Amino acid sequence: MSDAVTTRPVVEANDLCRVYEIKRGWLRPRAQLQAVGGVSFRVAAGQTLAVVGESGCGKSTLARMVTLIEKPTAGTLRLQGVDAVETPPQARATLRRAVQLVFQNPYGSLNPRHKIGEILATPLAINTTLTPAERRERAQTILARVGLRPEHAQRYPHMFSGGQRQRIAIARALMLEPALLVADEPVSALDVSVQAQVLNLLQELQNELGLAYLFISHDLGVVRHIAHEVMVMYLGLVMEQGPKRSLFARPLHPYTRALLGSTPGLSGLARDKRIVLKGELPSPLSPPAGCVFSTRCPNVAERCREVRPALRPVGDRQVACHHAERLAG
Ligand SMILES: Nc1ncnc2c1ncn2[C@@H]1O[C@H](COP(=O)(O)OP(=O)(O)O)[C@@H](O)[C@H]1O
Ligand SMILES: [Mg+2]
Repeated sequence: MSDAVTTRPVVEANDLCRVYEIKRGWLRPRAQLQAVGGVSFRVAAGQTLAVVGESGCGKSTLARMVTLIEKPTAGTLRLQGVDAVETPPQARATLRRAVQLVFQNPYGSLNPRHKIGEILATPLAINTTLTPAERRERAQTILARVGLRPEHAQRYPHMFSGGQRQRIAIARALMLEPALLVADEPVSALDVSVQAQVLNLLQELQNELGLAYLFISHDLGVVRHIAHEVMVMYLGLVMEQGPKRSLFARPLHPYTRALLGSTPGLSGLARDKRIVLKGELPSPLSPPAGCVFSTRCPNVAERCREVRPALRPVGDRQVACHHAERLAG
């Protein structure tokens, strides 16, 4: 394989947007809600991009676009080098197999009437020509790989704990040997002790299989170990994006600093430099003019309320803040 092939990103998004039309009663005109407003990133094999931000900032919408469940309103999306938006149905089916989604809720995402063995074998029955015996064997192999026992194939989802169910959901996502796993708050419903086990499993699987991850969480603490790159979103827009190490060590956007400061044990910032988020999250139907974070930002200046800062390079990162250089200095 040439270098160009091996280093090609598994997923590449450019300026991805998603706007929803909202009905507001039959006499009022529809409103436009920008759930994701122009997001760009690449993730290579064996790498994890963490997407972080408060509830409602557009994380799940992004996950649905990347897993081809929903079409972007604008922007481009390439999976394994192939245009995933303007692609004919047949090629789309192939791309769909390459990207798998793991949901937050391990209770709702597994069919309660099916045994685990069937749940795991179903994607193979639909998408491959493997015999039933081969499908069972593959299911057994993956079950063992995620830390469950062979006899678990004969049990129903309700017989498992939350952590075990999430292992099963991960196993199911792996059945078709995807290149990219999109995990939407995969451990948010789990106890902290169980969270760590599932995160470790994800990390081992990545090392072993060279998977690319788009890992979504509202909690910076959760992504601390698993992420290589981090993208911080607020009201559908990227506030800061860059390598995990430097972003955690020296956050440049006031919103990133606020998120870090509110995560116990994470903030390396001196107490007087911490930011405590005040005020309510604005409605995405009427985002603030200028910088979307201006209504809650401790460094807000007149210009921030008038001119929306573009996401631009500052050092090793992209930052959307008029004062990023000052904060960097
Ligand atoms: N199908 C939809 N129709 C209308 N609005 C939606 C739809 N899905 C999401 N939204 C809105 O888009 C914004 C982003 O939602 P979402 O992607 O679920 O955020 P997150 O996952 O970060 O909590 C929210 O304001 C949400 O209400
Ligand atoms: Mg969500």
